[in-house]
Amino acid sequence: MAVRLFDFLTGLSGALDLISPEVVGHHKRVAYAAVRLARVLDLPRDERTDLYVAGLMHDVGGFSLQSRLAALQFETDGAKHAELGYRLLRGNPLLQNVALLVRHHHTSYAQFERLNAPPRKLYLANVLCLADRVDALLSREGERSPDQVLSRIRSLAGYKFAPDIVDALAELAGAERFWADMALSDPTGALTDSPDMFDERAMSRGQLMAASQAFSQIIDFRSRFTATHTRGVAETAVRLAQRAGFNAHELDQMRLAGNLHDLGKLAVPSEILDKPGPLTAEELGVMRRHPELGRAILASVPGLEQVTDWASQHHEQPGGQGYPCKLSGQALSLGSRILTVADVFTALREDRPYRAGMGSEETLRILDNMASTGALDPQVTSLMREHHAELNEGRQIAQTLAAEEFREFYSSLEQ
Ligand SMILES: [Fe+2]
Ligand SMILES: [Fe+2]
Ligand SMILES: [Fe+2]
Repeated sequence: MAVRLFDFLTGLSGALDLISPEVVGHHKRVAYAAVRLARVLDLPRDERTDLYVAGLMHDVGGFSLQSRLAALQFETDGAKHAELGYRLLRGNPLLQNVALLVRHHHTSYAQFERLNAPPRKLYLANVLCLADRVDALLSREGERSPDQVLSRIRSLAGYKFAPDIVDALAELAGAERFWADMALSDPTGALTDSPDMFDERAMSRGQLMAASQAFSQIIDFRSRFTATHTRGVAETAVRLAQRAGFNAHELDQMRLAGNLHDLGKLAVPSEILDKPGPLTAEELGVMRRHPELGRAILASVPGLEQVTDWASQHHEQPGGQGYPCKLSGQALSLGSRILTVADVFTALREDRPYRAGMGSEETLRILDNMASTGALDPQVTSLMREHHAELNEGRQIAQTLAAEEFREFYSSLEQ
């Protein structure tokens, strides 16, 4: 499973666009602009890389504040989304390097002296801040022309932005391709002609796990009802796959598929996720788009082909009544069938807005019923029954840990 870090993060950042059509491409454009600024400023390779990654992730905390994000009021939420983004990234072995950049991407240059943070991180955060403002001015706030953007940014030099970063933008403004690229929904391709930021090597196993875990939290932490769902599904799916005889490599792929299976749910408004009752036909339609949306994003990452199939088929049913493709028979691999059982099992055990989590007996009875009507694979379901105690314990431990992380994520955040 050879996956490049550049491909993984660039591809998955597309998931951050799902939340609101108004921000399509925002993360990629900010990442692009930050790297262009970094080149003019002659920043070293590791800092250019950090800026690219931070650009791709910078508004990630906005997902938990979805109503604000939908209104695009990034500037007026008191930078809470920046703080939440920081909290999502700070404990992640792969992404912690950029956590402070994200935390301070709305902090003014004039405040730096009073902050107890590494000056170099603040400086890089300010590069990100300026790149973010450029895209906001170009695409959201009245669609200003390049000249208007530049003069607006200039007027904030020394206050919002470090003067030398403003000078760097002025220099970039003369490069015609800069503004043309900033009009694209994905200008990151223009950076690959000089792939000097990322090394070409594949991500290590640890990096892949860490990156996929960051996205699993982004998916889950939007609602307290889903706060631990992904972790429970991934753990159950891996243990089931182990029992089914998968090898170590396949188990890793199953962990990734579990972590990313509900990626497309980022497009589902939290009012639907948290609705305390049955969904209307229209809401159900919105909900049911998530496997396809997830597939489109995962399929854009070379090396994730197997993961993409397993992840995006978790609502298919062996009897052919599932969605989105009504797959059945040979078209549904054992991996997909395992992930489906793990998803249903975990969902039944969890509290939902409209019901409490179920006990063992009831859960197993429902799984058996579903297997008998072709909704679940009978062999995988009996594997689940056979190892139920061990699988359930693993799920419980994983979800308890995730629940602690969720509490820490929101703790002492002023509302
Ligand atoms: Fe922001
Ligand atoms: Fe932003
Ligand atoms: Fe799902």
